[in-house]
Amino acid sequence: MFDLVHTRWTLMHIPERERVLQKLVDCLAPGGTLFVEEPDAISVRTLDRSGFRSLSLRVFEIVQSRGSHPDWSRDLPFKMTSLGLGNVRAEGETPYFRGASELAEFWQISWGRVRDAVAQTGTDITQWDRELAELDDPTRLFVSPMTIAVIATKT
Ligand SMILES: C[S@@+](CC[C@H](N)C(=O)[O-])C[C@H]1O[C@@H](n2cnc3c(N)ncnc32)[C@H](O)[C@@H]1O
Repeated sequence: MFDLVHTRWTLMHIPERERVLQKLVDCLAPGGTLFVEEPDAISVRTLDRSGFRSLSLRVFEIVQSRGSHPDWSRDLPFKMTSLGLGNVRAEGETPYFRGASELAEFWQISWGRVRDAVAQTGTDITQWDRELAELDDPTRLFVSPMTIAVIATKT
């Protein structure tokens, strides 16, 4: 039994995420805290105005076909409430970032790995490279996926 369980940006990749969430609740001691931070890509889908949006949408399709779920956290506060947890508190944070920033480099590396895998299949990756290169431009503003942070207590 644990007094605190924390997970961040990982359940989205686990196809059995619902079952895992229940197990995390089960291993909490009475009065224990569950702290889950997961992404919702709605901010990229609706707010980003650059090639990062179309680049990300292609990545989301690919990772979804492998069992990841880039929008899974949308229901998370309600889900954690329905699991019987108490005092559920939630907030979303959506970083906007400039090209050539640390966050731009993070996405370039992350999405660049998916680009490399796609390139290995012989697919034309010209558009991928054009959109990845946009992230080098410090005059441009991009929108990250939102992180929804939910904290709740086992009663
Ligand atoms: C976006 S990273 C988040 C890493 C870290 N929690 C953070 O917040 O910086 C996703 C993590 O999920 C892990 N992961 C992906 N699929 C997984 C799986 N099926 N089971 C367990 N971990 C997995 C990866 O190894 C990676 O560390």
